[in-house]
Amino acid sequence: MTDTTFTPRVFSGIKPSGGLTLGNYLGAIKRFVGMQGQMETIYCVVDMHAITVWQDPKELAHMTREVAAGYLAAGLDPSQSILFNQSQVAAHAELGWIFNCVARVGWMNRMTQFKDKAGSNAEKVSLGLYAYPSLMAADILLYHATHVPVGEDQKQHVELTRDIAAKFNHDYKVDFFPATEPVIEGPAMRIMNLRDGTKKMSKSGESDMERINMTDDADKIAKKFKKAKTDPEPLPETVEGLASRPEARNLVEIYAALDDTTPEAVIAQYPGAGWGTFKPALADLAVAKLSPISEEMARLMDDPAEIDRTLAAGADKARAIAEPILKQTYDIVGLLRG
Ligand code: AMP
Ligand code: TRP
Repeated sequence: MTDTTFTPRVFSGIKPSGGLTLGNYLGAIKRFVGMQGQMETIYCVVDMHAITVWQDPKELAHMTREVAAGYLAAGLDPSQSILFNQSQVAAHAELGWIFNCVARVGWMNRMTQFKDKAGSNAEKVSLGLYAYPSLMAADILLYHATHVPVGEDQKQHVELTRDIAAKFNHDYKVDFFPATEPVIEGPAMRIMNLRDGTKKMSKSGESDMERINMTDDADKIAKKFKKAKTDPEPLPETVEGLASRPEARNLVEIYAALDDTTPEAVIAQYPGAGWGTFKPALADLAVAKLSPISEEMARLMDDPAEIDRTLAAGADKARAIAEPILKQTYDIVGLLRG
């Protein structure tokens, strides 16, 4: 029953809790595509995570398809990666429960994302929001995934996943779950809000002007970058000059990530440039990279039944990996089955 060799396998997911942003694209989807073909890759639309906060049912179904369309339009290929939505594979919820009994309340209390999201309202948020990192651990460990590409904000949750795996292995004296590695690399691990360089760009921020959506058209993208907050100084001559300039650094990092280069190379290309030069160049680059994707997303969204078929076929493949691992987990824990 012990399993000490783990085949390299990638798992990651995005919540369908609002439209995909440039943060999701650069911090997650673009990197998902980069890992495809290098090892086995499993990418999930984590709809059960989305309902930790209220979601309108029709909108949830629409957003689930839209995230799937984003995956496909950006280059994920269902013949190379397993693509599915989480709720179609019941084993996620089942392993999630077991992990609720492994994870400690003290560990959950240290989750900074929960503290940020719940804020002073912690008594009123759902129990699911509090427990969600243990469901995330189940998402990952149900496939014995070894690599999890995520943005910086998810690092603590992947570390918790390692803690849960280690405690399970220790308590049951097995070597069953792997120590998963977060894969957090490149210039775009934390894309910031365009109106406030100290806050993360997110799907749920108040103003649409603070984020670029993957479905924004060229005019909107240009307008949002033009209005993006900056300090009055031009770009520095070297990348060190960005250190205490969060908004400037963010725009340079976005440029670097879109252009598959480094902030150093961007500064070398635009040393001392004013915003009147840099912002339009950034907008042109973003439009060039994003518009083929948003056009393909719109085309895919015209045929929702086809997206549903793709997700159902992916769920079949996911179940084929997940169910044997769940059964072995039940055996280890001593949960009887016929
Ligand atoms: P979520 O939208 O919270 O489901 O996030 C899905 C993935 O996108 C996770 O890997 C996040 O870390 C990543 N992500 C979300 N927002 C950003 C951002 N502003 N910068 C970088 N990565 C992000
Ligand atoms: N918690 C992640 C987020 O909010 C989404 C997520 C759920 C995830 N399950 C996962 C990411 C498993 C990576 C692996 O962004």
